[in-house]
Amino acid sequence: MLSKKIEQALNSQIIKEAHASNSYLSMASWCETQGLRGSASFFYAQSDEERQHMLKLVRYINETGGHALIQDIKEPKETYKSIKDVFELSLEQERGVTESINELVELTFSSKDYATFHFLQWYVEEQHEEESLFKSILDLINVAGTQEKNLLFLDKEIAGLRGKTE
Ligand SMILES: [Fe+2]
Ligand SMILES: [Fe+2]
Repeated sequence: MLSKKIEQALNSQIIKEAHASNSYLSMASWCETQGLRGSASFFYAQSDEERQHMLKLVRYINETGGHALIQDIKEPKETYKSIKDVFELSLEQERGVTESINELVELTFSSKDYATFHFLQWYVEEQHEEESLFKSILDLINVAGTQEKNLLFLDKEIAGLRGKTE
């Protein structure tokens, strides 16, 4: 059984995962309009993953005696300055999610809700992987540079990186 406080905190996390999913969908769409097909497919897949993170929370809350709420999310950004801008924003967003997962972990531990504490370990691991993925792409962008002649190379590399994490 979930305490009201933890139920509410998990419901807030649903909003964050839903926002991440929409935000990556928006990035996928922008990349596609720029002819960056590799990055677009990367972000479409990323958006699907975030939706799975959200659904996992919905199911957990409901099967633990709570009620998962599907609430409004703020609109994601529509346009970006560059591919670098997109990935910088992604990493920043992932770091924000990591922080909120860490707060949840702390709350469940101090409340002695060990089942939810255990459930959240999957997210801890996932955040570590996602941060390191985005960090490695940004490193690649910094090494390659984003001049026009390198964009096609970068775009292909980014599409390939996605495959390795699945
Ligand atoms: Fe997530
Ligand atoms: Fe994520």
